[in-house]
Amino acid sequence: MAKPPIYYTTPIYYVNDRPHIGHAYTSLATDVLARFRRLDGHEVFFLTGTDEHGQKVEKAAQDAGEDPQAFTDRVSQAFRDLTATMGFSNDDFIRTTEPRHKAACVALWKVLAERGEIYLGDYEGWYAVRDEAFYGPDELTERDGVKYAPSGAPVEWVREPSYFFRLGRWLPELLRRYDLPEGDPERIDIQPESRRNEVRAFIQQGLKDFAERPEKLDLSVSRTSFTWGVKVPGDEAHVMYVWLDALTNYITAAGYPDTTAPRWKFWPADVHFVGKDIVRFHTIYWPAFLLAAGLPAPRRVFAHGWWTNEGQKISKSLGNVIDPVALVEEFGLDPVRYFLLREVPFGQDGDFSRKALANRLNGELADALGNLANRTLSLIQRNCEGRLPAQGDPAVGAPLLGGVQALAGQVRERLDRQEFHLALEAIMASVREANGYITQEAPWALKKTDPVRMAAVLRALHDALRAYATLLQPFMPGSMAALLDQLGVPPDARDFAALAMPLPEGTPLPPPAPLFRKIDLAAA
Ligand code: MSP
Repeated sequence: MAKPPIYYTTPIYYVNDRPHIGHAYTSLATDVLARFRRLDGHEVFFLTGTDEHGQKVEKAAQDAGEDPQAFTDRVSQAFRDLTATMGFSNDDFIRTTEPRHKAACVALWKVLAERGEIYLGDYEGWYAVRDEAFYGPDELTERDGVKYAPSGAPVEWVREPSYFFRLGRWLPELLRRYDLPEGDPERIDIQPESRRNEVRAFIQQGLKDFAERPEKLDLSVSRTSFTWGVKVPGDEAHVMYVWLDALTNYITAAGYPDTTAPRWKFWPADVHFVGKDIVRFHTIYWPAFLLAAGLPAPRRVFAHGWWTNEGQKISKSLGNVIDPVALVEEFGLDPVRYFLLREVPFGQDGDFSRKALANRLNGELADALGNLANRTLSLIQRNCEGRLPAQGDPAVGAPLLGGVQALAGQVRERLDRQEFHLALEAIMASVREANGYITQEAPWALKKTDPVRMAAVLRALHDALRAYATLLQPFMPGSMAALLDQLGVPPDARDFAALAMPLPEGTPLPPPAPLFRKIDLAAA
């Protein structure tokens, strides 16, 4: 039976700034899962892109003395370049200034208006340009006469005519969907659990506060105070609220409004990957817009945590922004990819440090995995004429291979829950076992005493390495391709199904070469 198609998205990134580690992180997690599913036989659509409208971007263009379109063209390119630097396998890169996207926004708006979900009123309230979000008076704090949102962004009082989306009426339905059992096609799954509880509590409080006047929960979805955005159909003094515009990208890329487009089969998204700061937009506004338009809501929103840099909050003003390009130059792409998902449980905050990165690279990649491969392959080269030995007496390999055979299933289970660090931990635990196995069996000493056993031991180690390399491909595509080359695994036998089929004995193996270069930070 064909496996279902899968759709994963990253947030689309604001082009007011250069890409940094936080952006690379969200996309990396998405990339790893996309690659994993492809290797597991799914057709995957992986989308990323840039969010180019709104007051914040307009202001950044002004500050740079550039026309907004020229400015966004330039900065968007930096994000596109990042996908190449980081080895992301996205199938599309969407820009909200593209005609296809503006058309989708206009179409969605019209459907919402026709269904009576949007109405014209007046907006008065506290707005933070930096967050492109409105806040209630009770959410604000005041310092030196300036009011601030919980995010730390300053807010200003705005008053203008505005279109409103009837958000309030959808809130009970959202709560119902969050609480549906796993597997229910209407369930909207918010992960981690703590975020789900936060969102539920937030909605419940709103419903309680405004029980008498539910229209208070409606959302202002247009602005007249600036022009850099998608114009509201039929009322061009208004541009659409940038979050309505931005969120729509996820269906634009699937072909909306043409629901007969080939890519529409991917909708609804299986996972929207987001940072914890933009959970509300993705779990409340977005599904409400979709349900109001009669469209299916996303299946899951997963919110990851934030990175600090050597214990400090990352910010431009502190000058401690981590440039992913520089990091990749210093440590190599795959060690950076590995580190980001290995070091911190996905969903929790984490601290970046060069020392921690170097430790993971040196200890786990170079010493544990790299040496295991090198020792095994060098011995096969030297003692087996560079050809893969036959699978010998099963009892010889059993202590190692019993665990290895269960590994694919364990990794899949963990990735089903976006537990990247646990998936890596499981593989690394097995690598450690394999290192114990090689030490204990000492195949280098068996050459003279028991060459049959030696061959069986080396074959078992080769089988284990093949499993590690295959399963680690999504995390470290470049170095695992190199390892699979060294293991003599043909390119068409690198997906997970192929793991069940043993490699033919006698397969010639090329001479091994080191996979990872250790870094000595003290010497740098
Ligand atoms: N444009 C909106 C998203 C619209 S999606 C329809 C946006 N863009 S952003 O460029 O500001 O942020 C994009 C992502 O980067 C967010 O998911 C955010 O959580 C993530 N990160 C920004 N700084 C981060 C860290 N220091 N650490 C981890 N992720 C961080 O929001």
